Amino acid sequence: MNAKELIDKLYETSNLTDEELRFLLQADASIDEYLFERADCRRKEIYGNDVYLRGLIEISNYCKNNCYYCGIRCGNNKLERYRMDKETILECCKQGYALGYRTFVLQGGEDPYFTDEYICEIVGEIHATYPDCAITLSLGEKEKESYQAYFEAGARRYLLRHETAGEEHYGKLHPENLSLAHRKQCLFDLKEIGYQVGTGMMVGSPYQTVDDLIEDFRFMQELDPEMIGIGPYLTHLDTPFASFENGSMELTLRLIALLRLMFPYALIPATTALGTIHPTGREQGLKAGANVVMPNVSPTDFRKLYSLYENKICTGDEASHCRGCLEARVRSAGYEIVCAVGDSAKEKFRA
Ligand code: 5AD
Ligand code: FES
Repeated sequence: MNAKELIDKLYETSNLTDEELRFLLQADASIDEYLFERADCRRKEIYGNDVYLRGLIEISNYCKNNCYYCGIRCGNNKLERYRMDKETILECCKQGYALGYRTFVLQGGEDPYFTDEYICEIVGEIHATYPDCAITLSLGEKEKESYQAYFEAGARRYLLRHETAGEEHYGKLHPENLSLAHRKQCLFDLKEIGYQVGTGMMVGSPYQTVDDLIEDFRFMQELDPEMIGIGPYLTHLDTPFASFENGSMELTLRLIALLRLMFPYALIPATTALGTIHPTGREQGLKAGANVVMPNVSPTDFRKLYSLYENKICTGDEASHCRGCLEARVRSAGYEIVCAVGDSAKEKFRA
């Protein structure tokens, strides 16, 4: 089969063999026009022109982990650390709500200061104040009991990228105390509790191979996540990976399109990393199959400190500025922002 036939097969069956995937992952740029067209078609069948908003609140840049790629790793002693208190987080929600956001994502490093009790208190208060909003957590690996407690407090979604499903690759990105097996266990625990689960990987991280990407697809087929977030790996100078190159926008876009065809109902964000690697990265991501954007609602003072990678966009902007900016970007790509909770269409379609 040639590339066009493979793309048609993927469109029709949402699956390909490893060999076929490898072919599409390694093909030159000439396949992208048709691939993106098919992905956009699939996206429109399911989500129309809708783009959902997620207000992102970066609650802490303390992290007990030391991942080699990440700028907020505990080993980076050049970074000024911060954590928000409950009042600040609620203030972010208030602003986000006024801007039309109906999902709040509380993201942070693995910061023991945020005990389960405190997280539940915060989640409970957001839930009580904004019962019409979805609360998403992205706070790393926890015990199942902790995830259960957050769920009971009102959280319904959890983002935990698996980062790479290649066992060996995982070991090259993380210190020995972290394991792919445990990360996967967390994701399955979250599913079992009833969360809508988001996972994903960095694209072009050091030592990543095409086989690792195929493993990523296979793992996600097994997990069947509601959300899939991917972005290019971007080098942070205060990490052990300082001398590695950035991942590529082109491969990220191709993967977004393949993901849309393989996981038709997935919520796929056009990520901040994609907007950082290229001025129109997010618009291009939307055109390749993405259907979510995640505007930052953290206070401006904290934004530059949440430095996972270099040159992160929006660090000097007010929440309201990002709202307007995204409105224009989404429209210029040919889509429409909708102020809605924005659940995955998976349940609706399978019912
Ligand atoms: N480049 C790109 N993405 C990164 N992340 C962490 N460090 C980097 C980096 N250097 C991503 C990880 C994490 C998410 C919050 O940010 O995938 O899950
Ligand atoms: Fe923040 Fe464009 S989204 S300035």
